[in-house]
Amino acid sequence: MLRTHTCGQLRVENVGQEVTLCGWVDTTRDHGGAVFLDLRDRYGKTQVVVAPQSGPEVLELAKSLRGEDVVLVRGTVSHRLEGKINAKIATGEIEIRGTYVEVLNRSVTPPFFPGQEELPGEDLRLKYRYLDLRREQMQKTLILRSRIEKTMRDYFEENDFIDVETPILGRSTPEGARDYLVPSRVHWGHFYALPQSPQLYKQIMMIAGYDRYVQIARCFRDEDLRADRQPEFTQLDLEMSFVNAEDIIGMIDGLMVRLAKEHLGIELKTPLPRMTYDEAMRRFGSDCPDLRYGLEIVDISAQAKKTEFRVFRETVDAGGYVRGFNVNGRAEEFSRKRIDELTEIIKKDFGAKGLAWFRVEPDGTLWSPISKNLAPELLVEIGQAFSAKPSDIIFLVADSWDVTCKALNGLRRRLAAELKLYDPKTMNFSWVVEFPMFDHDPEENRWVAMHHPFTAPRVQDFEMLNTDPGRCRAQAYDLVINGYEAGGGTIRIHNSDIQSQVFGLLGITPEIARDRFGFLLDALRFGAPPHGGIALGIDRIVMLFGGMDNIRDCIAFPKTQKATDMMTEAPGTVEKKQLKELHIQIETPPASA
Ligand code: AMO
Ligand code: AMP
Repeated sequence: MLRTHTCGQLRVENVGQEVTLCGWVDTTRDHGGAVFLDLRDRYGKTQVVVAPQSGPEVLELAKSLRGEDVVLVRGTVSHRLEGKINAKIATGEIEIRGTYVEVLNRSVTPPFFPGQEELPGEDLRLKYRYLDLRREQMQKTLILRSRIEKTMRDYFEENDFIDVETPILGRSTPEGARDYLVPSRVHWGHFYALPQSPQLYKQIMMIAGYDRYVQIARCFRDEDLRADRQPEFTQLDLEMSFVNAEDIIGMIDGLMVRLAKEHLGIELKTPLPRMTYDEAMRRFGSDCPDLRYGLEIVDISAQAKKTEFRVFRETVDAGGYVRGFNVNGRAEEFSRKRIDELTEIIKKDFGAKGLAWFRVEPDGTLWSPISKNLAPELLVEIGQAFSAKPSDIIFLVADSWDVTCKALNGLRRRLAAELKLYDPKTMNFSWVVEFPMFDHDPEENRWVAMHHPFTAPRVQDFEMLNTDPGRCRAQAYDLVINGYEAGGGTIRIHNSDIQSQVFGLLGITPEIARDRFGFLLDALRFGAPPHGGIALGIDRIVMLFGGMDNIRDCIAFPKTQKATDMMTEAPGTVEKKQLKELHIQIETPPASA
């Protein structure tokens, strides 16, 4: 090894030792006679002093050093001078009196310095990712990620799980996104699909008798990207046989206790709280509610039905709802201008038609520009429904169930953050269970799977597959952390007849089913055990455990919102010869592309 110690290792106990350090020059300060260098590696920073006593050559070399040069320094560990101790860093009590300096490699002037205080623009960070990854925050995150994965691996190993790798080149596994396709050179006109998840392979592993499977698996989904979504991301994927939903939830509760203890230093109480999907939508308008604060939704459709106020009455008469929440004691903070801005936001982002509001006056009455349209008794009733107190402000949306959910969820999250209704350090873990089996797609007038087409209905709901699929609930569960969907899973259908019936409801004809999932339908006929599983989003868990809000900061080499890699410039064009081998012709792009 070139070095005897890392740049984060030396302490007062080492004073007097001859050491050799290697690292990047973080900063240099030329103090007339002596040169001070901060040497950095992923373990920390150590101060080096090169004084004239080391000889003119060494001093000259030290003076020539610039940020990000890679150097080797030999010297003696010494106490820092009184008053020069830096309590903020672990090596802050010592420094190296440099006797020898060697440049291992020079750096050209970088577009930004990893040590600089101000965060560079994200485009620059992604293009020069190697410089960005030298930043302490990125190092901390990648180390946290590595340790979280280690805890996961240990936990499942202790619980008798077997880690099995599944193919990247395969057939499409539908998880609701578009597939990334890979053309086959050998099979003219045929394509592999990159896995949206290892879903079918893990079910096959259960049928094969490996009753506890786990994998840290890469998944690929060509979908619209957001701050919490990447086109390729990593799941902690698992599947178990001879279990029910309780068993899977219990296994993950155990993992969360362990992760929270080891990486957050908090003791979680199990079982983690649960609520049904219906309750979550009713109280929070979201299937992954953020439970760190209140702002619970109240439905006043019954009261609204009694008013002459057109907006409320007509909505309820048409089968819609009037719902809202009370922001306790914060009326002062909402000017008319602010309310107009919020109205525009929920119109634009969630298709709401408007935002009604009531301020609670010192005498407890509700006031709003629309209050003149409402009978005083009704205002009292509405006030009671929201437990209104002076200085409260109540926001209401009148619309379809879906729009009231989306708009109020969006508003709830925005206001909680803006009004700082929670401590960003608190962590909240919960489960949402009993999702509907199907969502109705009004445009195509058909059912789509809410989770995926292999999900089993609740046993008591089997009959509803024939009579009322929309009310049929699934044996499904999502893990929610701080209002993010951190994981999701289900008990699977293990009977080929029910599987065919569900495919039928989803408009997957027997021919399509045979073509795409014939292997699964066959396998289900060869002694398939009852089974189920779950997948957790590792990138999201690292983001939440690290107190971050952007998934790109938790991935060494992430993609942009446009699914490009700014460092390697993927995706790129390929040679004509390659296209020919794949029997692919590229259409001339439209002028706009
Ligand atoms: P699901 O589609 O719910 O389930 O995915 C599981 C978890 O993966 C994370 N996740 C993502 N993270 C980052 N970027 C994305 N584009 C992205 N998409 C999903 C989320 C999510 O909860 N096969 C099933 C699991 C099962 O049924 O066992 C599945 O993939 O945290
Ligand atoms: P209008 O009668 O359309 O002028 O609306 C009167 C008030 O009701 C305005 O403050 C609107 O913002 C509000 N409003 C209109 N439509 C809705 C709606 N769908 N939900 C809640 N408030 C609404």
